[in-house]
Amino acid sequence: MRSPKDFFRPLAVGAPQPVREVPFRPSRMIHFFDPSNPKMAAKVPDIAPTVDVLLGNLEDAVAADRKEAARAGLVEIAAKADFGDTQLWTRINSLDSPWALDDLLTLVGAVGHKLDVVMVPKVEGAQDIHYVDRLLAQLEAKAGLERPILVHAILETPSGMANVEEIAGASPRMQGISLGPADLAASRRMKTTRVGGGHPGYLVRQDPSGDDAPRATFQQDLWHYTVARMVDACAAHGILPYYGPFGDIKDTLACEDQFRNAFLLGCVGAWSLHPVQIAVAKRVFSPEPGEVAWARRVMAAMGDGTGAVMIDGKMQDDATFKQCRVVAELADALAA
Ligand code: GLV
Ligand code: MG
Repeated sequence: MRSPKDFFRPLAVGAPQPVREVPFRPSRMIHFFDPSNPKMAAKVPDIAPTVDVLLGNLEDAVAADRKEAARAGLVEIAAKADFGDTQLWTRINSLDSPWALDDLLTLVGAVGHKLDVVMVPKVEGAQDIHYVDRLLAQLEAKAGLERPILVHAILETPSGMANVEEIAGASPRMQGISLGPADLAASRRMKTTRVGGGHPGYLVRQDPSGDDAPRATFQQDLWHYTVARMVDACAAHGILPYYGPFGDIKDTLACEDQFRNAFLLGCVGAWSLHPVQIAVAKRVFSPEPGEVAWARRVMAAMGDGTGAVMIDGKMQDDATFKQCRVVAELADALAA
């Protein structure tokens, strides 16, 4: 599969840079750690090779009086470690906070050459991405970086939702968007008190059947609309959509369901907040061998991908060929 950034052209200060090839890099799990927490920081060398993306978190979940320590901790870890194929991302503080500017100045200046992506929380519209984009361009030029740092937005405000298409297309630096279900729930006045996942009260009830038989209820997915909308915006602009966090660490079953719903709707990954969620994300966001085998069978039978054939009683045509290609190319890219 080709990366959406195959033809990435950075907005740089000075002369336009040549179009560059960015190879596909898996990002099935974006593993969060708190660089101000010495226990977590000590585990980085062991965790890094087991994840696609390691993210040093500077925003929520890092207490206000630990912000500087987290930033300094991330600089120290990034400077020391060799992350191999694992991407290094950071989540900076929100742009209206007292810390965001120093986060960018310090990190790009000190370890910008190691940073792949900056995740920006609470993005409200394209203006937030433009601001980060120009600032990054200046800081990259100042630091003499040869590789542009990409930008990832968290979708977690009602304005962000309303502007999701313009956010997705706001800059060639845009790498992707994650759902931020906790902040989004709060700012929308949803009545949840957890990080992601469902709610037993959000259900549909079977219609009455005319007798006194008990009526079944079915829990609904609170996040279906939002994820689907985010996926469309990302696909329209060639960037990648992600489910965000799932806070009930012990409930790996529900975590897997939530991640799988997102995968089936088009997301390429999710956040892992605890090591137990790493394997869950790896399993969910890698296509199943049976699905891959079926996809390859359809593609082989379809030849040049045009026309129609019947396979096991199911009609296949140009469109199913393309669906199968999505699955097969993802499997090939992950195997490479
Ligand atoms: C993540 O940042 C969230 O608010 O869910
Ligand atoms: Mg949030």
